Amino acid sequence: MKSPAERKILVTSALPYANGAIHIGHLLEYIQTDIWVRFQKSRGHQCTYVCADDTHGTPVMLRAQREGITPEALIAKSRQEHMQDFADFHIGFDNFHTTHSSESRELTEQIYLRLREAGHIEKREISQLFDPEKSMFLPDRFVKGECPRCGSADQYGDNCDNCGATYSPTDLKNPVSAVSGATPVIRESEHYFFRLMDFEAFLQEWTRAGHVQEQVANKLDEWLQTGLQAWDISRDAPYFGFEIPDAPGKYFYVWLDAPIGYMASFRELCERRDDLDFDDYWKPDSDAELYHFIGKDIINFHTLFWPATLKGSGFRTPTGVFAHGFVTVNGTKMSKSKGTFIRARTYLEHLDPEYLRYYYAAKLSGRIDDFDLNLEDFAQRVNSDLVGKLVNIASRCAGLLNKHFDGRTVGELANQELWRELVNAEPEIAAYYEQREFGRAVKTIMALADKINATIANEAPWKQVKDEATLADAHQVLSLGINLFKVLTVYLGPVLPALADKVADFLAVPSLTWTDFDQPLLDHEIKPFIPLMKRLEQKQIDAMTEAAKENLQPAAEAAKSKPEADGQEPIKPEISFDDFAKIDLRVARIAKAEHVEGADKLLRLELDLGGDTRQVFAGIKSAYQPEQLEGRLTVMVANLAPRKMRFGLSEGMVLAAGPGGEELWILSPDDGAQPGMRVK
Ligand code: 2FM
Ligand code: ZN
Repeated sequence: MKSPAERKILVTSALPYANGAIHIGHLLEYIQTDIWVRFQKSRGHQCTYVCADDTHGTPVMLRAQREGITPEALIAKSRQEHMQDFADFHIGFDNFHTTHSSESRELTEQIYLRLREAGHIEKREISQLFDPEKSMFLPDRFVKGECPRCGSADQYGDNCDNCGATYSPTDLKNPVSAVSGATPVIRESEHYFFRLMDFEAFLQEWTRAGHVQEQVANKLDEWLQTGLQAWDISRDAPYFGFEIPDAPGKYFYVWLDAPIGYMASFRELCERRDDLDFDDYWKPDSDAELYHFIGKDIINFHTLFWPATLKGSGFRTPTGVFAHGFVTVNGTKMSKSKGTFIRARTYLEHLDPEYLRYYYAAKLSGRIDDFDLNLEDFAQRVNSDLVGKLVNIASRCAGLLNKHFDGRTVGELANQELWRELVNAEPEIAAYYEQREFGRAVKTIMALADKINATIANEAPWKQVKDEATLADAHQVLSLGINLFKVLTVYLGPVLPALADKVADFLAVPSLTWTDFDQPLLDHEIKPFIPLMKRLEQKQIDAMTEAAKENLQPAAEAAKSKPEADGQEPIKPEISFDDFAKIDLRVARIAKAEHVEGADKLLRLELDLGGDTRQVFAGIKSAYQPEQLEGRLTVMVANLAPRKMRFGLSEGMVLAAGPGGEELWILSPDDGAQPGMRVK
């Protein structure tokens, strides 16, 4: 690596899909990346942060159709909204482009043609479900049917919520197109594949060469051991994307061109900036560093397909891929009904974006662990750290300095000890930022704020100013406080850029940068103090979560925008009364509910039937936490033949309604029903 002063760094965050709003879950990544980028820039490096909207694919095409607009109009509108949301959260992209651009098309074609020339592309026929009404092949998520293993109804084309089986959509029983409701047919079509297995040796080496976090490297080891398969990179028309050269009616799969969007965004920026050269950053032996910040759900795309694509087409590969975990709110998945599925815009209508930036920073590490945004802890932390500790230093000192000393600091600081301690903490804090250990950086900075507050409280300048004999002491401590506050603000600048700007203004300095952080303001006149940050009130959070609930679409709208969850399933073929009478439905009390290790979708329930107890594995984890269920009454199929599942024997089935995900509700009988009663 080059000496620090010479570093050229290109940084990306994952490209948000153009068919949805930015929410607080997305923001963890953009805030994390932005803090890191601001830190690098503040240290004087040439650091460039690019992103774009991820515009291609079936969901964008179908949504545009439903809205009666062109996909181009849809993505243009989304891009404006996304850019405004990011700007308001102070995400300082150097460029926010779109994957539906000429740069993107040219680079995607160039990469594909280079891969083809080198023999890394192959063609073969595959069978897929085809919607005869819409004349289109159906992606896995746009077809539903009965699980081929357990027979459970209403399962997606790729895996079963109930028993956890994974399968191909063509294996589903009684499949239904979620786009039109038609019964799909199986059709053959020629697809283009990228021969990922040609890069096995390269990936074995690359994934172990320090480019990914340890937790990720371990996961990759597992994948590499099971062997690499060719990757299907084509989709048939109709599809919103780029047509493949020499293959009319075939389009590049969105995940091929999405990461190329990073390059395209940078290329478009290079066209406008004299100091940046595309080839200098992307040639195979480039001395620039390239980092991708991503969520852990897209690790395979960024650490297998993407480096192999780059390698095979003669470009440089990433220096580092940094994955983070998922965001939960108050310990559970973000939920529209609980008002914790909070869009960026809803947040901004109620709260200061720097509260969230601070909270995310204070709890982030360089690992991929999941992240809980606990709203109570959030308010408490913001008020105690930012308002109670940080801003308090400035408000106490600036008021008295202005009132008693014309806002002018002393010519020399007498207490050098605390000043030195703050300045000497810089290498430790910088190292934490560099390693994305923002939580540790914040902890160290706040411990210094505690010391400063303690010193000020001890000296009590508000008393010292009242006595001529201690007036000079007051001047010293107030000047020290202002200078220490300046250092703290530099340290927190990557996290709180808007606050840092306000502080620079009131300290009457052009800007606060890391490069001159250790220069005290001596015999310097500050401006009148302006309030820097307000307390976060609980009622603001309540108003925000209420508004987030209001964001819920009306049912009919939701059905339109979520074809896979439209509740428009055809009624099943008629059954006789005798058939119905065979089903023994019983009221059951959920005596116990718990997570199942290794199961993404299942909860283990112990159901009390008024004497008899049954174990049932229910696919309702996406909608419920175990503690919400214990003690509740529900309805179960009591005479379903027991099924052996990967996690144990399931002795019945709980009844639930809804399209799936968090919108799933178990049935509950009215008061008065007792466990074991037959439902008739
Ligand atoms: O998972 C997602 O939200 C994708 N839109 C991320 C794409 S990242 C990159 F590869 F473009
Ligand atoms: Zn199943």
